[in-house]
Amino acid sequence: MALNLDDCYELVMKLVDQAGELISSRNSGRKDFVEKSSNIDFVTETDQQVEKLLMDGISEKYPDHKFIGEEETSEGKKAELTDAPTWIIDPVDGTMNFVHSFPHSCVSIGLLVNKIAEIGIVFNPVMKQKFTARRGQGAFLNGNPIRVSSETKLSKALITTEFGTSREEDKTKVVLENIGKLVRAAHGLRALGSAALNICSVALGGADASYEFGLHAWDIAAADLVVREAGGVCIDPAGGPLDIMSRRFLCASTQELANEVVATLTQFYPQPRD
Ligand code: IPD
Repeated sequence: MALNLDDCYELVMKLVDQAGELISSRNSGRKDFVEKSSNIDFVTETDQQVEKLLMDGISEKYPDHKFIGEEETSEGKKAELTDAPTWIIDPVDGTMNFVHSFPHSCVSIGLLVNKIAEIGIVFNPVMKQKFTARRGQGAFLNGNPIRVSSETKLSKALITTEFGTSREEDKTKVVLENIGKLVRAAHGLRALGSAALNICSVALGGADASYEFGLHAWDIAAADLVVREAGGVCIDPAGGPLDIMSRRFLCASTQELANEVVATLTQFYPQPRD
């Protein structure tokens, strides 16, 4: 029987609201954390509980659906994207912000079927910003339609990016080089501390482009659909099609702007891929 995406959407919205309550109820004070891939890459009890809440809730109704979850993957499970309905989950994107109670972190969850994104939800429960998108149906912030800007020139653009969760020498060199180039070339540069929220800031028309090297499929999956449904373009930072498992991402409000960012960036190819 064909998968009813309306039912999937209704279920995931309920679960995301529960996840949001859990995150916002814990938003004050410093949180305990455990270090993962580096001493600035964290997991908290809340990341694990939210991932479990979402996976258990979905599995109960759809036992054959697959998952790519940030915390499961960091515990050693291989991230595998097949044609099966696959939920790609970052339970708390912006964990560093959450640990410090800097109010920019979100639940990010996307559903891909046949490797095509059908549903994307990025929810910052502290700032009460819920970005939603379904393929072919537009993008919304708290139920109101959103649209990317019409900016075509890098010299007039506001760009979002991140320093990332690794401080390896070769990557840091490229990150800082790109920041230096874009600070000179663009109107301004911002880093919210959450890749998914950076990307959604483009969907909203608040920023004009966003790029990062080293992020993961769970940071990208939902926000990619949100920004494309808002009229933006999502590509590989060297140009060409986006591969959400490549740990490389660029989106922009227009193709012209995307091309200018591509031409400006020094490239980095994070290993291993997701
Ligand atoms: C990270 C954040 C960070 C970005 C990293 C992400 P996490 O996700 O979005 O801002 O630079 O690439 O992995 O670890 O907070 O879920």
